[in-house]
Amino acid sequence: MPISLKGRSLLTLRDFTPDEIGLMVDTAADLKAAKRSGVFPRRLADRNIAMIFEKPSCRTRASFAVAAADEGANLEVLPPEEIRFGRKESIKDVSRVLGRLFDGIVWRGFEHDIVRELAEHAGVPVWNALSDAYHPTQVLADLLTVREVFGRLRGVRIGYVGDGRNNQATSLMIGAAKMGVDLRILAPEPLAPSEALVKELLTEASVGANITVTSDPERALVGCEAIYGDVWVSMGEEDLIEERIALLRDFKVTPEMMALTGRPDTIYMHCLPALHDLSTEFAAAHPDVREVADEVFEQAENRMHTAKAVMVLSVG
Ligand code: CP
Ligand code: NVA
Repeated sequence: MPISLKGRSLLTLRDFTPDEIGLMVDTAADLKAAKRSGVFPRRLADRNIAMIFEKPSCRTRASFAVAAADEGANLEVLPPEEIRFGRKESIKDVSRVLGRLFDGIVWRGFEHDIVRELAEHAGVPVWNALSDAYHPTQVLADLLTVREVFGRLRGVRIGYVGDGRNNQATSLMIGAAKMGVDLRILAPEPLAPSEALVKELLTEASVGANITVTSDPERALVGCEAIYGDVWVSMGEEDLIEERIALLRDFKVTPEMMALTGRPDTIYMHCLPALHDLSTEFAAAHPDVREVADEVFEQAENRMHTAKAVMVLSVG
């Protein structure tokens, strides 16, 4: 039987089999090729999509908006200060109302339990566009990007450098375990992911998958085809910046660090935003927080193709 994701929410990739994740990535690749050749079959015509973002966003919001427009859906942004989940009305009531009106809901915010409750009561697919715990739509774009560059996922070595416990690192570990990627998390000990989680993910891992956690750059990065970075403080953690600079000062991705892979073809990946633009107020105040070079824009474009695939597969 062909795999169907009709009606499914995407809260974390943990809820999906490798074949289902493969379908999302394959579909995104097909939709990307179709868009390149100017084909828009309006697979979401007459669909209404709600978008609630409690945290700021550039890529994710723009990706869902363009993906919806390309496929003929109406996308309605509902400001969180008007929805006031759990404050003006219960999450359950809001979810039930939105589920009656919309065919799908994109949500970004803080506590993962909110998006879980939204999905439980809405009765329509809910897509987690980033919670404190997970960032699954980003990892779909990352997987597509890696596959485009290396032609495969199985056994590809990726070194993630930075906060090993945040939403992005956790989601990359899940994606790697599911899709057979050899992921190395390079982080100082206080920012290392929980051993229990790594163990759990490895017990359910696919062939080729591995997750190594280390604070030794050479051990982490030797042979890596890709090095992956994220911000040193995630949204909502800005007060921790001084502490993180102290912890991560030696974990900057520099040309020297890239050279540790021993490969001339290692690519640099970053989910963005990266604080390398010193013209921004925040980065100007914290020049130590420069993390990256400018090589990550195909990966950012792939956010749109994967967001489109997720919506088309579940409500198209
Ligand atoms: N990578 C990512 O989620 O970017 P935004 O925060 O700009 O959406
Ligand atoms: N870990 C980052 C990811 C941003 C896309 C954050 O949550 O802010």
